[in-house]
Amino acid sequence: MGLYGDHVVPRIVNVACGLKPSKPLRQRVCEGLEGEVVEIGFGSGHNVPFYPDGVKRVSAVEPADLGWKLAAKRLRETSVPVERAGLDGQSLPFPDDSYDVALSTWTLCTIPDVARALSEVRRVLKPGGTLRFVEHGLAPDEGVRRWQHRLEPMQKRVFGGCHLTRPVVGMLESAGFTITELDEFYEEGAPKVMGANSLGVAVSN
Ligand SMILES: C[S@@+](CC[C@H](N)C(=O)[O-])C[C@H]1O[C@@H](n2cnc3c(N)ncnc32)[C@H](O)[C@@H]1O
Repeated sequence: MGLYGDHVVPRIVNVACGLKPSKPLRQRVCEGLEGEVVEIGFGSGHNVPFYPDGVKRVSAVEPADLGWKLAAKRLRETSVPVERAGLDGQSLPFPDDSYDVALSTWTLCTIPDVARALSEVRRVLKPGGTLRFVEHGLAPDEGVRRWQHRLEPMQKRVFGGCHLTRPVVGMLESAGFTITELDEFYEEGAPKVMGANSLGVAVSN
């Protein structure tokens, strides 16, 4: 990825994703985790403190070596076994039907081929397994959308490929998930262009 992508982006992501307003959202999205969990785009492990007791093991999928290193303290402080088990959400090195729950927080914006990644998530989830997600994407308001389209090229350069205009719900439904819980809102304290969030549960049938 180069010096900027390998050494700067993971640090920016670590700080931006560690901001306080994200914590109650992480708490909400992690509440339903249980059993064998695969986390796509683990980053620097900001969800780790919110893994509930019912989680047996987490397979973390994260391409950035530095992200994994920055997770060290959070990993030391949890009793949940977490293994960096994959590097790319687009190609998961796991057998079919192997996970109870998948977790994705602010990651579908960045994975280059998100349709492929979602198809991989469905493949490795057991039938009826769920994807728990909180993602930012295309805003509901036309005025905000215009700014999202204008700013997206810069956003992608600065934040390692992060898109502002991906339609989260549409992508999940196109991948064959059924959304059973959904809350859509602008994140408090975040600029609207980056803070149009969808939080919920999608079932893989
Ligand atoms: C905005 S960060 C979110 C990190 C983390 N999920 C969180 O909530 O703090 C996006 C993450 O997606 C990761 N990512 C980028 N491409 C990916 C891919 N192909 N597969 C899995 N993760 C990827 C990035 O390295 C980064 O850690």
